[in-house]
Amino acid sequence: MPRMSAFEKLCYDELRRLHAIDEAALWHPFTQMRGHREEDPPPPVIVGAEGNWLIDAEGKRYLDANSGYWCLALGCRPKEVEEAIAAQLQRFGHSTLLGISHQPALELAGRLTELAGAPLNHAFFADSGSEAVEVALKMAYQYQVLRGHPERRKFLAFGEAYHGDTIGCVSLGGIGLFHDTFKPLLFDVVRVPPPQGYKSPWEDASAAFVEAQAKPVLEALEKHAHELAALVMEPLVVGPGGVIPQPPAYVKRIVAAARAKSVPVVFDEVAVGMGRLGRLFAFEIAGVKPDILCLAKGLTGGMLPLSATLASDEIYNTFLGSFGERRTFYHGHTFTGSALGCAAALAALEIFTRDGGAFLKRAREETIPAFWRALQPLREHRRVGEVRGMGLMAGIAIVKEKATGEAYPYERRAGYRAVLALRKRGVQTRTIGDLLLAVPPLTTTPEEIALLGRAYAEALDEIE
Ligand SMILES: Cc1ncc(COP(=O)(O)O)c(C=O)c1O
Repeated sequence: MPRMSAFEKLCYDELRRLHAIDEAALWHPFTQMRGHREEDPPPPVIVGAEGNWLIDAEGKRYLDANSGYWCLALGCRPKEVEEAIAAQLQRFGHSTLLGISHQPALELAGRLTELAGAPLNHAFFADSGSEAVEVALKMAYQYQVLRGHPERRKFLAFGEAYHGDTIGCVSLGGIGLFHDTFKPLLFDVVRVPPPQGYKSPWEDASAAFVEAQAKPVLEALEKHAHELAALVMEPLVVGPGGVIPQPPAYVKRIVAAARAKSVPVVFDEVAVGMGRLGRLFAFEIAGVKPDILCLAKGLTGGMLPLSATLASDEIYNTFLGSFGERRTFYHGHTFTGSALGCAAALAALEIFTRDGGAFLKRAREETIPAFWRALQPLREHRRVGEVRGMGLMAGIAIVKEKATGEAYPYERRAGYRAVLALRKRGVQTRTIGDLLLAVPPLTTTPEEIALLGRAYAEALDEIE
């Protein structure tokens, strides 16, 4: 029996009451609320979860193919993480990190820096991926100021980039639909195009391809290095901007070029870290470490909001000084290093790393290959232009005309209709425009992967 069965029996009136609150009081993120309110039947109200499945108030089950927006790496109910949170709650729920320490934050800073390895020896905690990146931006800029280079105040960022929704992150962002409205509020960045045309995991990238893709970045570095605080990138996969994969050699090439120009590199691994690509850190695949590393989402197994920004010795040491020198990093949030979040992250890291990393080895050798085998037939589907991604992260580009790649008109909402068709089949996911997402937990079983393959194909059949 599911653990939430009492909730599943919510009566009809109770469900109507919840829908009425949804209509009246809850403003959903990235959601056109008029459409949301008019949905018939109304969107599911989740009241429980079991394994990799969400359970709604009517008792319907949905395989979470979006991992609660890419964070539930260990499934919806990782028992050890739940127990670690409960145990921490018995000790204390919250204590500040401003000037004093607490045990879970110390343990987590020690473990994370040990796993990331030198020079990423210093962890700064916050509550979300956006904040992890915002911390990185301020850290990188103050680092330049402290080194005597206040003129290095721009950031090099990519087209289609998504780093979160704070004003700093939106300034870096390169997705017109999300970011253009806010332009008057944003700071300038040096923008370079994202890599295009790499269809990992099916293709090797030639040296010539990597060089051609890296060229605009190298040129921008040549021209702007003197005014750059840092280069910020989503390594290996540009995530919400289109699930656009990059060859590892491209990431390596860019980091080397930035280093040659003394431009620090920030890796935003909020989406691609914590096992999503089959390794704890995406930089392991790229074979190169950044100067600043941003982690969030799967850090707690997705169970609690927590982020970490890891900094190199060079950056951290630059902030050291006497009180009067004012080299302090004046940044922090009330819940920085939440004790509950840190306890959850320690339990999640234990699962990721114990037995010589057996959990992630299985993801690399079994789950990820099975996932791509299940998605492979979709590439032939008449409504699919492209299936791309890496690890357990795929985007299925829906098209009206396969031969020409012609898209559906925006207002036809082809992606959304595919989401509804999947929902009918017991699969919960999301689209970004007409890019249908498949980002399931790392714990997804072979049977569930097979179900996903079938459900996506049927849902795409139903778009018309
Ligand atoms: C690459 C990347 N960076 C940053 C963020 C922002 O994280 P959060 O939503 O936790 O603020 C996201 C969220 O999807 C992301 O995909």
